[in-house]
Amino acid sequence: MTSNAEIAQRGQKVLVGNYAPQPISLVRGEGCWLFDAEDRRYLDLMGGIATAALGHANPKLRRALDDQAAKLWHVSNLFTTEPQIRLAERLTATSFAESVYFCNSGAEANEAALKLARRHHRDQGRDRFEIIAFEGGFHGRTLFTVTATGTPALIDPAVYYGHREADLAMTELFGGFQDRFYDAYRAARPLEPGYETRRDVYNLYHLINHLNLFGAGYAGSVEEILRPFG
Ligand SMILES: Cc1ncc(COP(=O)(O)O)c(C=O)c1O
Repeated sequence: MTSNAEIAQRGQKVLVGNYAPQPISLVRGEGCWLFDAEDRRYLDLMGGIATAALGHANPKLRRALDDQAAKLWHVSNLFTTEPQIRLAERLTATSFAESVYFCNSGAEANEAALKLARRHHRDQGRDRFEIIAFEGGFHGRTLFTVTATGTPALIDPAVYYGHREADLAMTELFGGFQDRFYDAYRAARPLEPGYETRRDVYNLYHLINHLNLFGAGYAGSVEEILRPFG
């Protein structure tokens, strides 16, 4: 008999280590019971994390799956299939919903729910796009749902509504952004003539700050900006 540990070892070699699986390898199920590679029995209280609480090897379910597998296995959602529509009809007939969106995972379902909520408010002409999430919650692993895990993040307190030329000048002070950023900015909102001269004056504030805090290394840049003014 292959042991749980042997299977786990093989898995460690070929599976991406993004999960921390339990040290048991499940082989089969009967109703609400599960059996591992060493034939140990467990009561399944998880039901596929509550997404497949239909028990294991249910004879009626197996028959339905066998019947369907003998006809058509998978087609893209570019096509309709009658069984899918039949399921949607039953779901809408027995719930609040008027229509159904089928997807493959919890993350996709939550992603769709978040998008729908934002879309709903946009259609009503309301600018509501912020999502409130509980700390430590889990909603999936897509970029959108991961941002709703409530993991603390550092928000730059320097983001404020300020003077556009002064802000833009600051972006150019230490290395700057790529040219396409400035090209796009100018295309969207052209700058007033003389910005280049004013830019240096705006940056004087930051440079003197740095001179004060971090030392003489910044003196040269300060002098260079002041020189044209005598
Ligand atoms: C509450 C909740 N939301 C979303 C998910 C993500 O589901 P999936 O792994 O199918 O994307 C899970 C999965 O555990 C979950 O428990």
